Amino acid sequence: MNLIIFYFLHRYIEFYLSRFVLSADKYFMVGQKVIFYAMIDDFSKMPWIHVRPHCTLKVFEVKQEKRWQDISMMRMKTINEPIIDHIQYEVDFLFCTDVDQYFKSQYGLETLGQSVAQLHTYWYQANITTVPYERNPSSAAYIPGGKGDFYYHAVVFGGTPLQVLNIVRECLKGIMKDKENNIEAMWHDERHLNKYFFLHKPTKILSPEYCWDYHQTRTSDIKAVKLLWHFKANQIVRQTI
Ligand SMILES: *[C@@H]1O[C@H](CO)[C@@H](O)[C@H](O)[C@H]1NC(C)=O
Repeated sequence: MNLIIFYFLHRYIEFYLSRFVLSADKYFMVGQKVIFYAMIDDFSKMPWIHVRPHCTLKVFEVKQEKRWQDISMMRMKTINEPIIDHIQYEVDFLFCTDVDQYFKSQYGLETLGQSVAQLHTYWYQANITTVPYERNPSSAAYIPGGKGDFYYHAVVFGGTPLQVLNIVRECLKGIMKDKENNIEAMWHDERHLNKYFFLHKPTKILSPEYCWDYHQTRTSDIKAVKLLWHFKANQIVRQTI
């Protein structure tokens, strides 16, 4: 019924994937029928992982991108095709996420919605004038100063398959348009995702507890972390590609 997608992370895939899947198997949508889709760039690196009954792990092999900026930008592209070909017929809800993190506690049905966005650990308390929206008016991701609701984290987003397909297609369109105009910035796909949710408001917004940065000091409003985001390891991967 529900599912989760992991992205590939090149040479560190073995390091992240087993831990991520085992934690998801324990905490993600317990009692539900779940299909885990893993997108990796090399089948030979796929570890054998045993998942709980009524859950399935499916693996898609995807083309390796050369630079990490491309990985970040092209992940939208990577999700697009499997959704069109398979995923939309197999599940009711879909989450897209990265593998460089792990589940810490129950992540359940309360997270489902037609269009689901994740508040970013760093920016959820920030004044909207200071969040890192795209400020270049020539970019398709441009959001004028003072506008916007929240800064969303691209590491987790979801919804119905058709909705996710729409998110992915619109972000991809913006990314391609910017590429044609030689505009490329850090966190580019995240800025396009934020533009999407600026234009098409999400029907559900998840608390930062649903993707909390391990290195961030917890304030009293963060009670039960469900998913820990592993930022440092992520940086290591980026630096070594
Ligand atoms: C956000 O920052 C702007 C510019 O500094 C300021 O005018 C506004 O009052 C702030 N909003 C809030 C809610 O603090």
